[in-house]
Amino acid sequence: MNKKIKIHTPEDFQGMRVAGQAAAEILDMLVDHVKPGVTTAYLDDIVREYINEKGWVSATIGYRGYQHATCISINHVVCHGIPGNKVIKNGDIMNIDVTVIVDGWFGDTSRMYVAGETNRKAMRLMDITWESLQRGLKAIKPGGHFGDIGAAIQEYAESQHCSVVRDFCGHGLGRVFHDEPNVLHYGTPGSGPEILPGMFFTVEPMINLGKWQTTILPDGWTAVTKDRSLSAQFEHAIGVTEDGIEIFTLSPKGLYTPHNSELEPFLGGKL
Ligand code: MF3
Ligand code: CO
Ligand code: CO
Repeated sequence: MNKKIKIHTPEDFQGMRVAGQAAAEILDMLVDHVKPGVTTAYLDDIVREYINEKGWVSATIGYRGYQHATCISINHVVCHGIPGNKVIKNGDIMNIDVTVIVDGWFGDTSRMYVAGETNRKAMRLMDITWESLQRGLKAIKPGGHFGDIGAAIQEYAESQHCSVVRDFCGHGLGRVFHDEPNVLHYGTPGSGPEILPGMFFTVEPMINLGKWQTTILPDGWTAVTKDRSLSAQFEHAIGVTEDGIEIFTLSPKGLYTPHNSELEPFLGGKL
């Protein structure tokens, strides 16, 4: 059953630790730059320069024709928002997703950012999405199943009257960007492959205030909610240990979420 899911060694964990921390360091660095008036292309340029200075490699530039170091997904954009001349407005919320390659290992992580001050509805969605990721991560146990993760996320998000995006999922990663298995963010406990120590994968739930359906814009990348409702996402890359998980992409600065809004978050957990 699990033949296609790679099992990694302790040395491999060290490789992922370094790559994951590199990606998370970029997200930490961006906090002070996300503000009303800047363009998404400007944020992408900063990331590109940071990656070059550090001697890392962007995993997304050249990936299936994608030409940017980040995906910046604002408001009703679910994922894969393309940086460009769009000017960020006060109250915009956005996911910024970065993947870097360090010594051949892939670090993939994303978080939500707020430009200036946003409203309670948006703050609540980000809190629910962050908590959904935490519950998904807590459901990962060696000997458990991938369906446990999706079930934990879906149960919580839907209890808060939000919906879980079905069209995009987490993924195995390591020395490749997108590997087996698909990590669904919805499902049934006990379903799917068994979770075993040494597996590396991402959990990256996208949660909508409205319905879960998405549609791709004519640019071929940008996924938006079909009903144009607000969407949020957080992503961590993890490794399964003998007794739980190691999160490779925790904030090196120990930042809290949502970290750059004037409003008090409902949940003040670490990113
Ligand atoms: N980082 C995204 C993920 O979480 C993938 C982005 S691919 C891109 O899997 F080409 F859109 F950048
Ligand atoms: Co990912
Ligand atoms: Co990502």
